[in-house]
Amino acid sequence: MCGIFAYAGNDNCTKVIIDGLKSLEYRGYDSWGIALRTKDKITLRKNVGKVSEINELESVDADMGIGHTRWATHGNVTVENSHPHSDSEKRVYVVHNGIIENVKELKEYVPGDVFYSKTDTEIIPKLIARFMESSSFPDAVKKVVGMLKGNFAFVAIAKNSEYLIAARNGSPIVAAKHNQNFYISSDLQSLTPYSETALFIDDGELLIYDSQSHAIEFYDFINNKRIQKEAQTYDVNFMNCDRGSYKHFMLKEIFEQPEKLKATFDVNVVNGEIRFHYAIDPSQFKHVQRIVIIACGTSWHAGLVAEYWFESLVKIPVEVEYASEFRYRNPVIDRNTLIIAISQSGETADTIAGIKEAKKNGAQVLSICNVPGSTITRISDATVYTQAGPEIGVASTKAFTTQLEVLFLLTLMIAHYRNKINDTELKNYLDHLVQIPEKMNKVLINTEQIISIMQTHYIVSNALFLGRGVNYPIALEGALKLKEISYIHAEGYPAAEMKHGPIALIDRNMPTVFICIKDHSYDKVLSNIEEVKARDGIVIAVANDEDQRIGELADHVVFIPETIVELSPFLTVVPLQLLAYHIADKRGCNIDKPRNLAKSVTVE
Ligand code: F6R
Repeated sequence: MCGIFAYAGNDNCTKVIIDGLKSLEYRGYDSWGIALRTKDKITLRKNVGKVSEINELESVDADMGIGHTRWATHGNVTVENSHPHSDSEKRVYVVHNGIIENVKELKEYVPGDVFYSKTDTEIIPKLIARFMESSSFPDAVKKVVGMLKGNFAFVAIAKNSEYLIAARNGSPIVAAKHNQNFYISSDLQSLTPYSETALFIDDGELLIYDSQSHAIEFYDFINNKRIQKEAQTYDVNFMNCDRGSYKHFMLKEIFEQPEKLKATFDVNVVNGEIRFHYAIDPSQFKHVQRIVIIACGTSWHAGLVAEYWFESLVKIPVEVEYASEFRYRNPVIDRNTLIIAISQSGETADTIAGIKEAKKNGAQVLSICNVPGSTITRISDATVYTQAGPEIGVASTKAFTTQLEVLFLLTLMIAHYRNKINDTELKNYLDHLVQIPEKMNKVLINTEQIISIMQTHYIVSNALFLGRGVNYPIALEGALKLKEISYIHAEGYPAAEMKHGPIALIDRNMPTVFICIKDHSYDKVLSNIEEVKARDGIVIAVANDEDQRIGELADHVVFIPETIVELSPFLTVVPLQLLAYHIADKRGCNIDKPRNLAKSVTVE
């Protein structure tokens, strides 16, 4: 959630670290700080607010430094709580992501020490400094990591020491070396300007970089031994993050969807045959008797849509679980259960823990992920990449629709392999899928109606989103998009559930957004619309082109092109993304960095 960037080398240390932090700011933006090491002292600078707001920062002639952009977990957003933190004598400085759970117990090792912040981080430099009274800096860090409980990644420097040290247990951290420059970051993406290879630090490992000799040591702090690791290449082309002429990344990412869907299709479908890039052989699915999908947030919504697809086309039972619940529930899974983990970032703490839990029980894990080299891709048995490219806006859009596409292809692949659909049916589905980008473009160029809805309703405080079948998860997604970027309270429900409670809320001040496409429950959704109108409610509908009945009933209609019911979520979600975007923009919200949120949720 927070971002870490550290550097040792001959370039302008202040600038390299600030640039690194700016590229990480989408991960956390409450406050920032850097500690810069010159020969005999360490200079600290920190502040609340965004790194991007730093105009000028006087450079310090440093050869090493650590930086942090914060998303508060322990302690308010204040200068005192922002990182780096140090011991009282200011010998050791640390930036940290994650949560240290046993701070209270650890404080007993530093009796009498004054704590200046409310963070769980400050204990780390204090302990390291205490052990440095009788050990070297690297040995002191080795002792301290073994004492910490919780998920963490941290980087430490010490006064008069040539070492830059990183540790990982559950939170991402990765390093790169280029000539005599050494970089450490919580996010591979920020290392792409510097190197095409990365040194992945895994859980339970320390990386110790000697800035004098340029030697790198990897140390396994669980088994207390040195280990050998090589730098690995990764896909640098993934990371192009230009906002272009769009006002926000989110808007750019919404408009990129047709192109990204086409890219995802083209990579995975060759001459009418579904062949996943990372060579998943369909025979791997032979013994699968049950599928469990684990994910969080928007990725979980993608899983819910896929549940309909798998059950209706593959005809095997599917459960879709919040990863945060799955990991602690002693889930019943075995070798015949296929776990599908969905994650844009590949770094979501709960999803990572869910994967580990599943593997412990002997299940195969297939992940659907957007970020090459991320933790989830490295711990799963196989990964299919969405070709969404970097998603910078905190609210997920193109990652969601490309996840849907991979999930639909996977459904078709398994259904075909198990003879649940024949060649003609497979071809037919693929023919419809390939037309989606063009149809989506039609929704995207027709934003007049959305702008007019926005102008009438941007001041509401609550909204309801209703859909049925495969569009019920889209109602959830529409509500999530609206609440996270515009701060309007919104709830999603299956349309028929309205009568079991939410209908009590309906009045002229609470619009209800209906997804009402021509499927088997069309007439039933129309009845729900009537029920809302009978209570003076405002109805906004997403409906198929030329649906006159809806036109007569609803206060506003956004029309979308027709496709087969299964694929309708690709089109129904777009007006909801745009509506949330335009309402949030009109309300003056910080769309790409909504309050309290972070792009990558690396704490549980
Ligand atoms: C909502 C959103 C979040 C993420 C969730 C999971 O717009 O972006 O709900 O979907 O935090 O993140 P990933 O997919 O990275 O595991």
